[in-house]
Amino acid sequence: MNNLDLNPKIINTLNKFKLTSPSHILSLSAPDLERKTKLSSNDVAILQKTVANSVLISKPMTTAHEIFHTESDTDGNRLNVGCPILNAFLEGGILRQGITEIVGESASGKTQLCMQLCLTVQLPVKQGGLDGGAVYLCTEDAFPNKRLHQLIHYFQNKDLFSTIDFGDHIYIEHAADLEGLLYCIEKRIPLLLARGAIKLIVIDSIAALFRVEYSINETVQRAKHLNTLGSILHRMNNRYNIPIVCVNQVTASFTDRSKKCVPALGLTWANLVTTRIQLSRTTRHVTTSPVQMETCLRTIEVLFAPHLPNRLCHYVINDRGVEGLS
Ligand SMILES: Nc1ncnc2c1ncn2[C@@H]1O[C@H](COP(=O)(O)OP(=O)(O)O)[C@@H](O)[C@H]1O
Ligand SMILES: [Mg+2]
Repeated sequence: MNNLDLNPKIINTLNKFKLTSPSHILSLSAPDLERKTKLSSNDVAILQKTVANSVLISKPMTTAHEIFHTESDTDGNRLNVGCPILNAFLEGGILRQGITEIVGESASGKTQLCMQLCLTVQLPVKQGGLDGGAVYLCTEDAFPNKRLHQLIHYFQNKDLFSTIDFGDHIYIEHAADLEGLLYCIEKRIPLLLARGAIKLIVIDSIAALFRVEYSINETVQRAKHLNTLGSILHRMNNRYNIPIVCVNQVTASFTDRSKKCVPALGLTWANLVTTRIQLSRTTRHVTTSPVQMETCLRTIEVLFAPHLPNRLCHYVINDRGVEGLS
C-alpha cells in the first residue's frame, strides 16, 4: 500500500490499523473505515477511490487468446457426450447455451444418446460433466429403464473410483399432451432447478405432441404453441444456464426433392433451435471391438450450430452406449 499516491498521514494510519491489502480496504464501507481509522470522511473517500483505481490499473488487459483459453470446454461450457471421438467431433460436446435438437428417423439412436447425456451430466466439471442430475420428459414411448441400467452398469465400470449413484439423479416424467408438458416445465422442473438438483433437461420427443394434437388446418395455432414452448425453454436456459435437449422426428419432404426426409415441425420450430444434430442409420454393418458383434453403422451430422460447421461422423450403438468411429 506504501506505493499508492496518498497523503503520508493516510498511509501511516493504514499501516497502524493493519489495513494493508486492497481487498481488505475495499471490503469495508466508508462509515466502517471512518470508525476504524478515525480519518475524515473526505480522506476516506480519497482512500477508497485511490485503492479502487490501483486495483483496476494493476489488472492487465486480457488478450483474445486468453479469453479463448479461459472459456475452454473443460470449464463447463459444453456437456461431454460420453465418447472421446464424438466429443472431438462436437468440439467438447453439447453446447450449454440454447436449445439442442437431436433429430432422426425411428431407431436412429436419439433416445440412446439422450440417456447417455443423462449420465455424463452427473460427472464432475473437470471430466466434462456439469455435476448435476437430469430431467427426462417422455411424451411418447415408455422410458427404456432396462437399457438405462445397462448403460449405468458400463458407465460405472469405466471409473471404479466414482462414488456417483447415476441412477439416483435422473428424474423421469411423462407428459401425454402439451398441457402436461407445460405444467411439468413451469411447475415441477423449477423446484428441482431451484435446489440445483438438475443440470440437463431432455424432452423426448417434442414432435410427438405437435403431431397428434393438430390437424392440417390448425397450423397457425400450432406455430403459436411452438413459439410459447420455445420461449419458455429459452428463458429457462438463460436463467439456469443448463443445456436443453429436444428430440425431434423426421417427416417426408414434399418441397425439397434432394432430401427424402426433413426434420418435423417446420420453420417455426427450426428458428427456435440453436443447434440441430441429425442421426441416421446406414445400410452397412460393422464389427466393433472388444465385443465382436456386428452392428448397424450410423451417422451423426451437424445440420447447423453456432459453433460448428456442417459435418458428419460415423457411430455405432453397442452395450456400452453410443460410440463414434474414427
Ligand atoms: N445393447 C445394444 N446393442 C446394440 N444396439 C442397441 C442396444 N440397445 C439399443 N440398441 C439399438 O438402438 C436403436 C434404438 O435406438 P433409440 O435411441 O431407441 O432410437 P430412437 O432414435 O427411435 O430413439 C435400435 O436400433 C437398437 O438396435
Ligand atoms: Mg426414441
